[in-house]
Amino acid sequence: MNRRTTQGVTRALDKAILNVVESELAQLCSGKTAKEVAKEVYRALVAYRDLQDGVMPLYDEWEAMYYAAWYQSSHINLAYTLLNEIPPDRNPIRSGHHNLQAFDFGCGAFAALFGILLAAVDSLTEGENLPKVSIVSVDSSEPMLAIGRKIWAAFAKEINKIREYPELSAVRQAFRALEFSPIQGKGTRHWLCAFHVAYEENANKVAEYLTSKIASERPDLVIVTTHPGNKRNAFCPEQGQYIKREIRLGEDSFLLKGTFPLLTKFRSDLFDLKVKSHLPEEQEQFARIYLRNYPSAWVTNRFESQCFLNLRRISSNNDIDDLPF
Ligand SMILES: C[S@@+](CC[C@H](N)C(=O)[O-])C[C@H]1O[C@@H](n2cnc3c(N)ncnc32)[C@H](O)[C@@H]1O
Repeated sequence: MNRRTTQGVTRALDKAILNVVESELAQLCSGKTAKEVAKEVYRALVAYRDLQDGVMPLYDEWEAMYYAAWYQSSHINLAYTLLNEIPPDRNPIRSGHHNLQAFDFGCGAFAALFGILLAAVDSLTEGENLPKVSIVSVDSSEPMLAIGRKIWAAFAKEINKIREYPELSAVRQAFRALEFSPIQGKGTRHWLCAFHVAYEENANKVAEYLTSKIASERPDLVIVTTHPGNKRNAFCPEQGQYIKREIRLGEDSFLLKGTFPLLTKFRSDLFDLKVKSHLPEEQEQFARIYLRNYPSAWVTNRFESQCFLNLRRISSNNDIDDLPF
């Protein structure tokens, strides 16, 4: 995407996510005292701090709201940047030669879906045909799915304000052209995705599930990412059956750059209006660091930019060297 389009997408996503999280927050606060609200915000922040030590958050309503306001943009960037690493001849979105059926396990708020949309914008801009795309998005957290649906709908509404976003015509076109419908039949490529689903705590279970899914469905491409602090070794499949490749993304490797001023303000207002003076000092300090000190951006912070990506393709033992990445 060129710079202008990226800026337009950033602006529209900033607005769309803001609209959703503002209304979620209003609902979550309804009927609660100021102290109860501050406690809930603090609890969500602690859950995400613990995530870095491998403990899985609950992904309840409060945590889903915070995930959207903080991590969603960087995860879209991760998915989009990663899809761009897959060479066009193996990537239906970029070549348009095959339809694509993706199973997005632990889809959260649909970051992979946004990543596919943005990759499709690139294809259209380069004059490629778009394939039919079908995504089955699965998550154990209903609040994450619910907020994802709302963000997707709010983004669609935003980009369709043609006078406000004249630079997004390719995004509107990609949105219309992608047919998110069930696809069967010959010529369809199957992907299995699990972006940042595994933590120390659940890694073995997730690896077990993915291994059985791979054995039964034989996808063409398996894409798994984990936070660098997490248990990547659980994802080393049986010897020889898959080829593993790890990519360490540095901040510069991410394709999308730019800040999210509305979401940054939302988070600092969350501190000023809902947390400050309602918590013990130590907890308030902790919340201040999370809510006031980092700007929201496509790459939110240092931890995200250092994630590992494990890309695996089902392969027989003897073509170990033909991995295109
Ligand atoms: C860090 S979020 C990542 C979401 C999304 N893939 C992304 O990249 O933004 C992890 C997600 O995995 C989901 N998850 C964790 N364990 C799961 C399981 N066993 N089955 C389904 N979803 C799971 C959580 O509910 C959460 O939405």
